[in-house]
Amino acid sequence: MKTKILKVSPFDIDLNKINIAADIIKLGGLVVFPTETVYGLGASALNKDAVRKIFAAKGRPADNPLIMHLDNLERIEDFAYINKELFEKIKIFVPGPITFVLKKKKIVPDIVTANKDTVAVRVPAHPIANALIEMAGVPIAAPSANLSGKPSPTIAEHVAEDMFGRVDVILDGGNVDFGLESTVIDLTEEIPTLLRPGPIVPEKLKEVFGKINIPDFVFGKGKVDVAKAPGMKYRHYAPDKKTILVEYSQERIEKIKEIIRNYKSPLLVIFEEDKKYFENYDIMISGKKDDYFEIAVKLFSILRNADKTHNDVIIIEGVEDNGLGISIMNRLRKASSEIRR
Ligand code: TXA
Ligand code: MG
Repeated sequence: MKTKILKVSPFDIDLNKINIAADIIKLGGLVVFPTETVYGLGASALNKDAVRKIFAAKGRPADNPLIMHLDNLERIEDFAYINKELFEKIKIFVPGPITFVLKKKKIVPDIVTANKDTVAVRVPAHPIANALIEMAGVPIAAPSANLSGKPSPTIAEHVAEDMFGRVDVILDGGNVDFGLESTVIDLTEEIPTLLRPGPIVPEKLKEVFGKINIPDFVFGKGKVDVAKAPGMKYRHYAPDKKTILVEYSQERIEKIKEIIRNYKSPLLVIFEEDKKYFENYDIMISGKKDDYFEIAVKLFSILRNADKTHNDVIIIEGVEDNGLGISIMNRLRKASSEIRR
């Protein structure tokens, strides 16, 4: 397949280019587009054949459902059941980096939801994503635009690595804002359940929803409830290279020094503040120790780049499990082949 790459500035959107992409969606094709979280691989959510192409292009298992992206909340009732009280609550987060799981209506094709009776809905906060969905005139089903097993793409170059030749159009809108996929929250029961931690952190969710369940698997512990969180059983974002995560502690420097003795050529992914301890080593800087926003937005790029070097092992410093740190650690624990506490 011939892939067209169209550069679009999010600050000065060329609607002719969005129109080309929107026409492809209407015709049942595949379009990669930027969102505020990561790039998405989109097709018309109401066209089964088009959605089937998403699974093929990504190599995604058919039992892992897709998020349906809307350009605003008004149409949500066409696709999902939601009462007034809940609608008022989710409005607070919309548009934004959060996905709501609700009971689905019949119109949503089973292939989108992997035959489940629920559907995941999200209204992104990105001018290119929103313009594309609006011009296409249909909801867009879209997973992250990586091949299954690769980190989610946060720049168009990483999209092209995985998707060139597999999609019709890539809309290159530059860098994303967050670099971590949306928070996924299941609202089908009385007490909401966090299925995937993301940019909207648990404290914010509690402010609006009151009590929420946070299952142990969010912290890399316990068993995944596959019926509720079908995507969480897959080991996402794992570099091919051996990857050791050193959980955050005061003794982290000593721990890393001990680990690197066992390897010929380690690559260290560490905080700006810690580089002075490892002057003669190959290093990538994850960010400043307490700037979780910076660490999150660079994380997937670093993992991709780290996997391309000649080093024999990647050793990564973890952050603390609070706020956005919970979401960062959720991804890092999945990415690593070994965890040192
Ligand atoms: O930020 C994001 O959410 C990005 C952008 C493109 O919107 N999308 C994304 O999609 O990360 P994906 O497919 O890579 O991750 C969606 C997650 C998966 O873990 C999937 O299992 C879960 O959402 N999901 C989708 N529908 C669901 C449902 N009905 N019930 C439970 N989980 C669902
Ligand atoms: Mg994904």
